Amino acid sequence: MPKPPRVRRGAKPKLRTDGGVLERLRDHLERLGLTELDQHLDAHLAWAHEHKPDPLVLLERVFGDGAQRVRQRRVERRIDTSGLKLRKTLEAFDWAFQKNLNRALIENLATLVFVDNHEDLLITGKSGTGKSHILQALALRACEREIRVRYTRCVDLIDDLYAGLADRTYDVRLRKWARAEWLVIDDVGLGQLRRRDDEPTAAHMLFNLLDTRHEQAPTALTSNIKLSEWGKYLGDATLAAAILDRLAQTSIRIDIDGPSYRDFLAKRRAKDHGIVDDAA
Ligand SMILES: Nc1ncnc2c1ncn2[C@@H]1O[C@H](COP(=O)(O)OP(=O)(O)OP(=O)(O)O)[C@@H](O)[C@H]1O
Ligand SMILES: [Mg+2]
Repeated sequence: MPKPPRVRRGAKPKLRTDGGVLERLRDHLERLGLTELDQHLDAHLAWAHEHKPDPLVLLERVFGDGAQRVRQRRVERRIDTSGLKLRKTLEAFDWAFQKNLNRALIENLATLVFVDNHEDLLITGKSGTGKSHILQALALRACEREIRVRYTRCVDLIDDLYAGLADRTYDVRLRKWARAEWLVIDDVGLGQLRRRDDEPTAAHMLFNLLDTRHEQAPTALTSNIKLSEWGKYLGDATLAAAILDRLAQTSIRIDIDGPSYRDFLAKRRAKDHGIVDDAA
């Protein structure tokens, strides 16, 4: 006697209009662990009914759709674990506003070949010129390519390493940052770094990290202070020079020489509200 089909908990009973084929198909999908495909089966069958495709086309559509969902979930996981808080895109970047910026160069960077080639990237420029926007957009692209990106503001990275000194997990934390397939350190020069005489300087920690990654794994940074001011900001001129020396060897350098987009937005808002800017 044939075995009765397995009844899934919560499954709606189906009419046996197809000689049980549909039930068996659902059973196969469940056994194969393809429950998500099962959820979209009705839509695929309706499409097939309407378009009467070649069987190969139908199979490709069904599995292609499933594969795309799996991929999208993996990308979302990558974004979640990357540390990116904002999803900036190059599509949303106003190129006409930042006239001196080489658009072709940035779009070429968006292919991420430089990440594959383990090249570093250093973007400098005044506040509001779009450094973080561009880097965050590149980091998002990298997540979409399923590259294991770790994005952090410099100040948060240094805070994390100081916390490691306090709870004796410094080595573990350093390794975690060092292991990132692509490390993105935003806003060097922004935010107050901790400074205590009995602890290593921020320069020491950043040097340790970047020296570990040097020529082995790519790192990208942005900074709105002059490179000559890194020593003062990080608390050790010699180590800051050593960091910059390594970056000079392996990095693509971009300096954004232009106006602040924040400033532009503020002026536009003021204008929209009928406020006259006396300083202008
Ligand atoms: N050309 C642009 N087109 C569209 N939005 C822009 C552009 N430039 C900057 N922005 C937006 O303006 C804001 C400030 O830009 P961003 O944070 O990239 O500046 P920044 O150069 O990193 O400044 P800071 O040095 O202060 O960190 C962000 O919301 C960003 O999305
Ligand atoms: Mg920034």
